[in-house]
Amino acid sequence: MRILAIESSCDETAAAVVEDGRKVISSVVASQVEEHKLYGGVVPEIASRRHAEAIVGVTQQALMQAEMKLGEVDALAVTYAPGLIGALLVGVNFVKGLKLSTGKPLIPVHHLRSHIAANYIAHPDLKPPFLCLVVSGGHSHIIQVEDYTALKVIGRTRDDAAGEAFDKAARAMGMPYPGGIHMDQVAERGNDGAFRFPHPRVDGAPYDFSFSGLKTAVINQIHNASQKGMELPVEDLAASFRKAVVDCLTDRFVKAAEDIGAVKLVTAGGVSANRLLRSRLEEICRQEGWQLFMPPLSLCGDNAAMVGAQAYYEYCSGKRAGLDLNACAAMSIEE
Ligand code: KG4
Ligand code: ZN
Repeated sequence: MRILAIESSCDETAAAVVEDGRKVISSVVASQVEEHKLYGGVVPEIASRRHAEAIVGVTQQALMQAEMKLGEVDALAVTYAPGLIGALLVGVNFVKGLKLSTGKPLIPVHHLRSHIAANYIAHPDLKPPFLCLVVSGGHSHIIQVEDYTALKVIGRTRDDAAGEAFDKAARAMGMPYPGGIHMDQVAERGNDGAFRFPHPRVDGAPYDFSFSGLKTAVINQIHNASQKGMELPVEDLAASFRKAVVDCLTDRFVKAAEDIGAVKLVTAGGVSANRLLRSRLEEICRQEGWQLFMPPLSLCGDNAAMVGAQAYYEYCSGKRAGLDLNACAAMSIEE
């Protein structure tokens, strides 16, 4: 079964054709990051407008690369939640137009479920159940993936997401948007023991995260130093901050795995591109004898191939949308 999938939840306009949830026939991503960089973050209205401009061309390109006509795809899929509402609406309305003109089934896909499904493309043998750390710009969750469409959140952030913390701290260090990737590169050259940052825990919620105190701590360090006319060594600051975030993520993820007896661990979302997070999890899983699956860097960020992958399993479980489909800015991954 070949699904044409569309993604427009944030600042990437993407289209892909994916077969049976695992095989990518074509995938096109148009990034708006250069424009948002000028403002230090995603400007929602600009994102919506750029999606409106790009979506037809990106979809045509994906069909052309797949050597298919629109009428030859078996179903349509779209990210409908969560994300920037204006951005999501562009994809949702565009796909409804495609459904109206072709009569093909339409499958609505949750953005975080699709991040997890990036692993189904990269690892043909990976099947649920497994324990997943989903870390993106907007979310940080520990999820028990019981089946392709049965997911249970057992840990979550109480404030900022890991990617958001990286981006805000990186901005304070003078790095361009999106700062996570820049901080990761700069941190490679720094001493991660140079600065001490808090490792906050949430009382009574052993798998939950809290990153806003950590972000505030680094911003305060920078302000205090600049008030004294000092400049802090950015490599050391980045390395120490990255270590603190990765310590928190791995600590809760490992505790959850131990407590529930998970032996198959998976990561998903933009922050799973982080070098330290990847190497730390590789080391832990090797020691514990656990299996570890991570998306390749090309599938960590937003793309439509992962939407097409999850859409196949949503379709198999009977999920369909009509022409009254709406977008939602916030929605639990369990719904
Ligand atoms: O999953 P994603 O592409 O979009 C959302 O759904 O939010 O995640 C984007 C986030 C941004 O915050 C970005 O800074 C972060 O992922 N990110 C990283 C790295 N690469 C991307 N954070 C830390 N280290 C990286 N190498
Ligand atoms: Zn995403």
